[in-house]
Amino acid sequence: SESGKFGPLVGAIDEGTSSARFIIFKVNSSEVVAFHQKELEQQFPQEGWVEQDPYAILEVVTTCIEKAVEKLVEKGGSPKDIIAVGVTNQRETTIVWDRCTGKPLHNAIVWLDMRTSSTIDKLLDTVPNKTRNKNYLKPLCGLPLSPYFSAVKLRWLCDNIDAVKIAMKKNSCCFGTVDTWIIWNLTDVTNASRTMLMNIETLTWDPLLMKFFEVPKSDVPISGCLGDQQAALVGQMCLQKGQAKATYGTGCFVLYNTGDVRVNSSRGLLTTVAYQLGSEAPPVYALEGSVAVAGAALGWLKDNIGLLESAKDSQALAEKATDNGSVASLEAVCYQVRDILDAMNEDCGIPLQLLKVS
Ligand code: G3P
Repeated sequence: SESGKFGPLVGAIDEGTSSARFIIFKVNSSEVVAFHQKELEQQFPQEGWVEQDPYAILEVVTTCIEKAVEKLVEKGGSPKDIIAVGVTNQRETTIVWDRCTGKPLHNAIVWLDMRTSSTIDKLLDTVPNKTRNKNYLKPLCGLPLSPYFSAVKLRWLCDNIDAVKIAMKKNSCCFGTVDTWIIWNLTDVTNASRTMLMNIETLTWDPLLMKFFEVPKSDVPISGCLGDQQAALVGQMCLQKGQAKATYGTGCFVLYNTGDVRVNSSRGLLTTVAYQLGSEAPPVYALEGSVAVAGAALGWLKDNIGLLESAKDSQALAEKATDNGSVASLEAVCYQVRDILDAMNEDCGIPLQLLKVS
């Protein structure tokens, strides 16, 4: 293959709830040169429980990388031109694994999973003055006590799963979100130590070993990592106060750039870090509102009710209907997004300048 055909390239790993993607962009024009996407299975062991196999998460990511690179090579490009890789991921999904063996201690508990309602109940009992105020921790972390967030899922794992209890005692329990799990595995020294290319003292690729096996050294740095919704805000160039984006995926997430101001919502919105462009840069904040079930509703209409053959059919069918009988999945998503935007406008006093949609 002819190296340099497309100039310098960057790769993006996007590990979402329903599928993963690897996208190779030209650095200079952001044009997509090669792309591969693969669906990821969810498991529903009980009503309200949503799990994924951490190895399946890794498998879809590595397959997407391999296939996208194959497509790049078919087009005459070279993986050597990939100068950096970024990672973006479904957020809050919680994985625990053993530091020594690298093996997961349980399935990933997905953000949608509601099993921790009783954990929340117990935690609310510990709020001082018996107020059971779900917003007690909000001034510290921007979030209410809710089954959605990772610490609550981690608490459940520590309380209920023997393998986690044992690993905690041995001090070998690692906890991470999906980005951490992917990066840990892509950069894991235990696997690297079995290649015969890594120096076991310095834990870096060893020049002598590389030379011995005539393997050229080309480390591709992981240069950025953002939760997928924050990544969408940056990708949509909503870099000014008052700029917002709505991303319709499994759920729908609206993020509203509030600049250096941490707006404390009185209407149930979350305060979150939007991005930090470099470790020395000041953080930029956002208000966030979410619709937990968006694309997932179309999946339900397709797989459980049999109303759609594919999610794509939903628009044509909706346009045919003369009356929705006050029940319409698509409208439900739109109305919720409208409610979120109204709440954001009222909460932050920074008028909405721009809404980007993807
Ligand atoms: O907070 C969960 C969110 O990050 C999931 O995004 O794209 O998988 O629906 P998505």
